[in-house]
Amino acid sequence: MGGVAERFSGRHAVVTGAGSGIGAALSRALVAAGAHVVCADLDLAAAERTAASTTGPGTARAARLDVTDAAAVRTLLETVEPLDLLFNNAGISIGGETQELTLEHWDTIIDVNIRGVVHGVHAAYPRMVARGSGHIVNTASMGGLMAAGLLTSYVMTKHAVVGLSLALRSEAAAHGVGVTAVCPSAVDTPILDKGAVGRFHGRDYFLKGQGVRHPLDPAVLADQVLEAVADDRPLLVTPRTARIAWRIGRLSPRFVAWSSVRFVAKQRRLQARRAARSA
Ligand SMILES: NC(=O)c1ccc[n+]([C@@H]2O[C@H](COP(=O)([O-])OP(=O)(O)OC[C@H]3O[C@@H](n4cnc5c(N)ncnc54)[C@H](O)[C@@H]3O)[C@@H](O)[C@H]2O)c1
Repeated sequence: MGGVAERFSGRHAVVTGAGSGIGAALSRALVAAGAHVVCADLDLAAAERTAASTTGPGTARAARLDVTDAAAVRTLLETVEPLDLLFNNAGISIGGETQELTLEHWDTIIDVNIRGVVHGVHAAYPRMVARGSGHIVNTASMGGLMAAGLLTSYVMTKHAVVGLSLALRSEAAAHGVGVTAVCPSAVDTPILDKGAVGRFHGRDYFLKGQGVRHPLDPAVLADQVLEAVADDRPLLVTPRTARIAWRIGRLSPRFVAWSSVRFVAKQRRLQARRAARSA
């Protein structure tokens, strides 16, 4: 972690979605590495809990922020000068059969997961270009690299975040600005129990369905993210099993398309069993 402390000590960072899960862990890891962090979240009390849970040498303060509000994102980022690091991490999940999604579901996930990131990039990137330094870290997902059914709207948004990150990175390099997309598979956070439509059950989906025995510890992921940023890596794909699946997917898209159909069928069987048990 020597390189990490060097890279983050005294830097100014904003983390969105900092009130819970990965954002809270990122905030703690950044403060521990010496950064000055604004922990921003829709839920101010949660952001305050995160800020209070950090331990130095850096510092943390909490702020209420709805990333779907472009003006609010700009106003908050303007309070941080210089803005060295922006973690566009806030996100929501919606899981279920696509025919059961309302247009409101689609609009909500696009607003938070795509527009939320765009608002951060739009407010931060020109300032970083002007200064000739900075790093934008976008929390995408393995769902941004591989297409898992029954999470279709979520997968769409995370593919957008990966595309935005990689394309922007190619522009940003000449300006001294870094961009990293973070693509974990299941991480042990409250999101696994949120956003279920119909019979969808997040923990069954990832744990029983995808065969993930232990979802990643957010603190472990946060340390990996800081290392990836310190190394200026374009993508962090984690854990190792996710990297293997991703490589197989690139070698054989037909195999992955075939196994995705089987995966969705398995999920539906799990859902039916759970429904029968609770009937
Ligand atoms: N947990 C996983 O398995 C996993 C895997 C891959 C990617 N991700 C991504 O990681 C990111 C963080 O998720 P998490 O697992 O920590 O979830 P989480 O639900 O624990 O935390 C998400 C936080 O975002 C906040 N938030 C939601 N909407 C917001 C908005 N409009 N403005 C500001 N804040 C808002 C919530 O209040 C919450 O504190 C998300 O982008 C998610 O898609 C999670």
